[in-house]
Amino acid sequence: MERFAAIALLSLYVHEDGLKKHCLATGAVMKALAARLGEDAERWETLGILHDIDFELIHGDMQQHGTKGAEILKEHGIDPDLAGIVQRHNHHLFSGTYNRPVEIALQAADSASGLLIACALVKGGRLSDVTVKTVTKKAKEKSFAAGCDRSRIALIAPVLALPEFYAVAIDGLIVIRGELGLT
Ligand SMILES: [Fe+2]
Repeated sequence: MERFAAIALLSLYVHEDGLKKHCLATGAVMKALAARLGEDAERWETLGILHDIDFELIHGDMQQHGTKGAEILKEHGIDPDLAGIVQRHNHHLFSGTYNRPVEIALQAADSASGLLIACALVKGGRLSDVTVKTVTKKAKEKSFAAGCDRSRIALIAPVLALPEFYAVAIDGLIVIRGELGLT
């Protein structure tokens, strides 16, 4: 699925600006990771863009999160493997079961996207000023972007060393910084 089509599908179900930006950011990180790992960049980006498609529909019921999303995606003809990854990305239900690089990457990208955006915001919205050193330092402050689960980011270690993961993620986000309202 091409990027514009994934965003159009997301827009049918996600209206809140912050959530939409989170989805775009996660997609951008996934795309960059796929390119680095020799995986399918378009597919990984689609997954990142669509992973939280059900978030406004579940009204905070995290037991439904992912499962509802997978249903929506199948209704729209998305292949079952991709829908299944969306279902399983809900770490409240599936934590400890991620073995495939794509699932590990989604855990890390989902959490790191918010952390990186928060790092840019403390630099006046300048993502171009965010370095691996910045992110590493801020990630150690527990109260900073506290909703971004460091343990989910740490899952990336067997796939990619953490500093390199941050570097790839920053590069991925830079590509769409305008869409995220950053410079
Ligand atoms: Fe997410």
